[in-house]
Amino acid sequence: RFTSVEQAPPDPILGVSEAFKADKSDLKLNLGVGAYRTEELKPYVLDVVKKAEKALLDKGENKEYLPIEGLASFRSATAELLLGPTHPAIKEKRIATLQSLSGTGSLRLGASFIARFLPGTAVYLSNPTWGNHKNILSDSGVEWKNYRYFDPETVGLDFDGMMEDIKSAPDNSIIMLHGCAHNPTGIDPTEEQWAKIADLCIEKNHLPFFDVAYQGFASGSLDEDAYAPRYFLERGLEIIAAQSYSKNLGLYGERVGALNFVLSDSNSAQRVMSQAKRLARALYSNPPVHGARIAAEVVGQPDLFDEWREEMQGMAGRIKTVRQKLYDELVKLNGDKDWSFITNQIGMFSFTGLSPAQVENMTKKHHVYMTKDGRISMAGLNNAKTEYLAKAIDDSFRN
Ligand code: LMR
Repeated sequence: RFTSVEQAPPDPILGVSEAFKADKSDLKLNLGVGAYRTEELKPYVLDVVKKAEKALLDKGENKEYLPIEGLASFRSATAELLLGPTHPAIKEKRIATLQSLSGTGSLRLGASFIARFLPGTAVYLSNPTWGNHKNILSDSGVEWKNYRYFDPETVGLDFDGMMEDIKSAPDNSIIMLHGCAHNPTGIDPTEEQWAKIADLCIEKNHLPFFDVAYQGFASGSLDEDAYAPRYFLERGLEIIAAQSYSKNLGLYGERVGALNFVLSDSNSAQRVMSQAKRLARALYSNPPVHGARIAAEVVGQPDLFDEWREEMQGMAGRIKTVRQKLYDELVKLNGDKDWSFITNQIGMFSFTGLSPAQVENMTKKHHVYMTKDGRISMAGLNNAKTEYLAKAIDDSFRN
């Protein structure tokens, strides 16, 4: 029965961590998965998370099931974080928010909703995009297509190509957009470009589906990083938005996130909520409670919230510092090459333009682990290792 099941390849991102663990070299550096590390290259549990956990323990929280849609205090806090606390969609109850299993689980719930209620609608993904977007949609039975995004010539955004592809998509398509800090390229549209993308969505009646995985983590400002979804709402569009607390609260393993449908009337929001609950019940019944309580405690309480913002700015700042340092080291090694893409890209990642063969050189010769598409996680780099990494990159480009 099971003999015909073929061996699956390792996951392109999480598989890199497995290979890293198996490497015995002292030089090894894991820049594969997007997970924040301290200057000592250790995982980081935020102080606000520790404080929230202590408060929860003191309160003696129980382990009962949550409702299918999740923890009420978390749901209101997360919607307010996404839209801003005074957003009319919240006041008018035009938003259906379900706590779900971090970014992936929330996207998956959204994809299941699309498969059931918008059948035959294709989702358009940027090329490239986070690899799991394709898995999630394919496994949910949703067709996906690409729109142009990255221009290897300029190592920047192929905005004309993107607009052309979104324009030629059939009316009523779904356009997946990265809320901020595009993964894997670190290249975001400017405000003027967002305006043109929104114009096109209005003209074509496309439904924007935002993947918001880095709010507060890209720029250090929660409001700045939520610019795009808020702007699209201001323009009168309905949106779907998935949120993750893996990076900004460092709750990777707790799987905390949410799926939001921000619609034009409360009646639709109520009906959509009832159906999304049915889908969630069959997928995982109800979401895990511990991480949601931590997030609700931090996001929903002014003292902890302010402290969180400071810690987040600390993380975002550390990433910006190593980014700059890496750039400086690369310029020292090869001043003829234009390395400005490194400092132009934002967020957790840098898309280096290294080819798969050059990536292999990075790993085999220099013990630097990264994804095959040439992406490196800046969050996994420290100051001390920037010179080593720059030498490895320079050597690999010359290969
Ligand atoms: C990444 O892109 O490295 C992260 O979002 C982690 C993941 O689940 O792939």
